[in-house]
Amino acid sequence: MESFGHQGRLEDERMLKGAGRYVADWRLPAQACGHFLRSDHPHAQIVSIDASAALHMPGVIAVLTGEDVAAAGHKPMPAAAPMKGRNGAEQKATPRYSLARGRVLYQSYCDTCHGPSGMGDGPVSMANKRAGPFAGVFPLVTAIGRSDGYIYNLLRVGGVRMPSYKRIPKEDRWHLVNYVRYLQKGGRP
Ligand code: HEC
Repeated sequence: MESFGHQGRLEDERMLKGAGRYVADWRLPAQACGHFLRSDHPHAQIVSIDASAALHMPGVIAVLTGEDVAAAGHKPMPAAAPMKGRNGAEQKATPRYSLARGRVLYQSYCDTCHGPSGMGDGPVSMANKRAGPFAGVFPLVTAIGRSDGYIYNLLRVGGVRMPSYKRIPKEDRWHLVNYVRYLQKGGRP
């Protein structure tokens, strides 16, 4: 493996001598500060985000959510260290969005039929329910043999009873495919 990046720490000397300058020390004209709100529940499901109270507080300029980040056209963050794999294989890109997307999209569009963990037990279908247009939606694990491309295309054109999700942007549809794969591997919703 080739070494990369690390050239020794350059910042230590000034930090250790008390000559460091931190972001919190800056006072620029019209400076705005960012604050990341992190969930205080491990692995919680985001059902909705109501930013109205925060937006009414004095001095608050904006509240940005994952949807705003995607709408602004920000792409996933690339890996910082370009490491080769076994036998010199190129690194696989795993999309890392700055804020969660796949799970949120799944909860908005899919879980009514497929259920939170993809078992086909969403409120409008309910596994084993005999009546209604969406009775007996299969668990998503049955689609385990389908290719990523097949699932992507199903979202684009729809199924026999399943609606088309053409209105969901392309990138987000791939994100849903990843999330379906995650559920199929037993990932927790
Ligand atoms: C209104 C109910 C409904 C919603 C909402 C829905 N589906 Fe489906 N889905 C179905 C039904 C019914 C099937 C079985 C195929 C058919 O009848 O169209 C299915 C099948 C599937 C399959 C298996 C396809 C196969 O051939 O193996 C996948 C994967 C899937 N859906 C993913 C999703 C995703 C991701 C979403 C959210 C964007 C979603 N579905 C939203 C009803 C729904």
